[in-house]
Amino acid sequence: MKTLLPLALLALFQPPRPVTSDGAQLFEAKVRPVFAARCLSCHKGTQAAANLRLDIPQGWKNVVASGKLLKAVRHEPGVAAMPPTGTKLSERELAGLTEWVRHGAPGPVTLAKPDPAKHWAFQPLQKSPLRSPEGVEAMVEAKRQELGLSRNASAPKSVWLRRVSFDLIGLPPTPSEIENFLGDKAPGAESRVVDRLLASPRFGEKWESLLTMPSAPSAPKRSCF
Ligand code: HEC
Repeated sequence: MKTLLPLALLALFQPPRPVTSDGAQLFEAKVRPVFAARCLSCHKGTQAAANLRLDIPQGWKNVVASGKLLKAVRHEPGVAAMPPTGTKLSERELAGLTEWVRHGAPGPVTLAKPDPAKHWAFQPLQKSPLRSPEGVEAMVEAKRQELGLSRNASAPKSVWLRRVSFDLIGLPPTPSEIENFLGDKAPGAESRVVDRLLASPRFGEKWESLLTMPSAPSAPKRSCF
């Protein structure tokens, strides 16, 4: 049983993924490319034309709120038409900017730079409460109660033996294995079965056969590597 635990723990401790939001995606997809190609040559940094910076969210806040930004790109009266040279923005670009303004003109997601020394890989190992089969059971039980699910009755011993045998070695138990297990009333009978199966050459053969099995007829033979 013990040998399988590290695999389960590995899955639990994947590093968190960076946060993204719909607003930031909208900005990245429909606004940043337009600003970059058509506006930033004049509207960025401390020398920005009309003192309007489009390279930072605080910069565009006022012209978005006053409606000037959309008016300028739509060439509506009351503000200079933008961009002042070259072609007007396309209908698609205008629709993108309009949608973005309607969503409150979100900026890109700025993630605070994490301290590299705090990366999980550099933390000293700690004893996890999950580092025992009982810990995993407790976690599953807590989630079960939270979701209000009821537990299935335990499988009968013969069914359990069949399942664990197929799981680990891909073969059903032999009649004498069934008889031995049904007769083993001492505590830890299940663990002894699992240890026997893990020690069996059939265990390695089963996993080897899965790794070398092509997933599609055209796939290379060792498709996992
Ligand atoms: C070639 C330089 C240049 C480019 C490119 C340019 N602008 Fe401008 N922008 C200006 C100048 C100069 C003004 C001031 C015009 C005036 O007041 O007559 C201005 C003014 C504005 C204003 C009005 C600011 C205010 O407070 O009145 C807005 C809004 C604006 N630009 C948006 C944009 C957008 C959006 C783009 C890209 C689609 C863009 N501009 C591209 C030079 C540029």
